[in-house]
Amino acid sequence: MNPKNLNLKSYISEEKIQEKVKQIGEQLTAKFKGQKVVAVCVLKGSFLFYSDLIRQINTDITCEFFGVSSYHGGTSSSGEVKVTLDLASPVEGMHVILVEDIVDTGLTMNYLKTSIESRKPASVTTVTLLEKPEALKVPCKLDYVGFQITNEFVVGYGLDYQGYFRNLPYIAQVQNFQ
Ligand code: IMP
Repeated sequence: MNPKNLNLKSYISEEKIQEKVKQIGEQLTAKFKGQKVVAVCVLKGSFLFYSDLIRQINTDITCEFFGVSSYHGGTSSSGEVKVTLDLASPVEGMHVILVEDIVDTGLTMNYLKTSIESRKPASVTTVTLLEKPEALKVPCKLDYVGFQITNEFVVGYGLDYQGYFRNLPYIAQVQNFQ
């Protein structure tokens, strides 16, 4: 399906997203005040959520980027997580905030958490803007979830279909896939 022919329907507005980002930021600020924290952005999908969220975390943090791919451009997870960019610095002894855009089957978040835990951080806190509880295939413990959504494909605010729509400031549902 050509991305240009898709009908998008606004699903979570920019205002609702920003309100939620502020709320999670305040909770993370309270949790990590005065601690050594590194916020890990999971590329590519979480780059907008991450950049808004870190500006709402009012404590000293450093930033790291972890690139993974599991959809390979389609609309369902391949089940195989491919690392496209590893963390540039060690996280040993640090409190890690792992920031994802969406947890679907849970395979990517589980993979990332295991990979980070193997580097001996002081703690790992998982944050995702969206979660599709009906799509979970493996148990996945999430510490902060922005919105739980139904098992439908969404785009916008970092989330893509074939690389497009990441720049929408809101989340949209795709109406006409079939
Ligand atoms: P999981 O491993 O199945 O949990 O998939 C997680 C990854 O799949 C996310 O980081 C997204 O990149 C992608 N993904 C899952 N659901 C959607 C969706 O509805 N729209 C766009 N990307 C999605």
